[in-house]
Amino acid sequence: MYEFILYSRKGHTSGNFSTLSSAGRLDTVYQCILTALFKSYGYRRDVIFHAILEGPPNPPLHLQVDGRKLERTTVDEVTWTRVLNLVLKGQKYLGISIEKKSFEVLLKEKQQESIPIFVLHEKGKSIMEVEFGPEAVFVLGDNIGLPKQKEKFALRFGEKISLGKQSYLALSCIDIINFLLDNYARTHFGISR
Ligand SMILES: C[S@@+](CC[C@H](N)C(=O)[O-])C[C@H]1O[C@@H](n2cnc3c(N)ncnc32)[C@H](O)[C@@H]1O
Repeated sequence: MYEFILYSRKGHTSGNFSTLSSAGRLDTVYQCILTALFKSYGYRRDVIFHAILEGPPNPPLHLQVDGRKLERTTVDEVTWTRVLNLVLKGQKYLGISIEKKSFEVLLKEKQQESIPIFVLHEKGKSIMEVEFGPEAVFVLGDNIGLPKQKEKFALRFGEKISLGKQSYLALSCIDIINFLLDNYARTHFGISR
């Protein structure tokens, strides 16, 4: 599995909002869900998306969207505003879960599962020099970036990698990584993702 962890400094932790952008920029979380998990027709079944939400009133919350389980979910913002409202109110939704968990605990779990962890930053080692296996965790900051202290913590477990000097939106980073992993799977493992 490939996993993306988005750290959202302000993403709201309760479901009572009319727009995603007014809920601590949950629109960034929604956009990353799209590029992490959706292909033109179908889902990426080998991807799990995580967001750590640090906004009010009940941080930190861990939102997980599991590509193995998603069904009948469309890509439009209206649908995802409803879905995120529901799950943040504690209702169940296929493939999506919410729990109280911090960034640090989630990363420690991934390390204990022995999954290679990569921390995305403009100033890291070029992603083109990285060798991937069938599993990897990619850690990204939100529209403001990863707080220094969180980045330092993540780098205890992972390696800093870069997509180049250009600073991209988090959703674009995930799209680019999925594109590179698609090519990597074809050229190195002879499979189509
Ligand atoms: C909109 S960017 C944040 C930009 C912010 N000014 C910063 O310095 O982090 C959101 C996240 O995307 C990732 N990112 C953006 N451009 C990148 C690049 N060229 N290489 C690797 N990661 C990148 C980083 O994880 C960043 O925290």
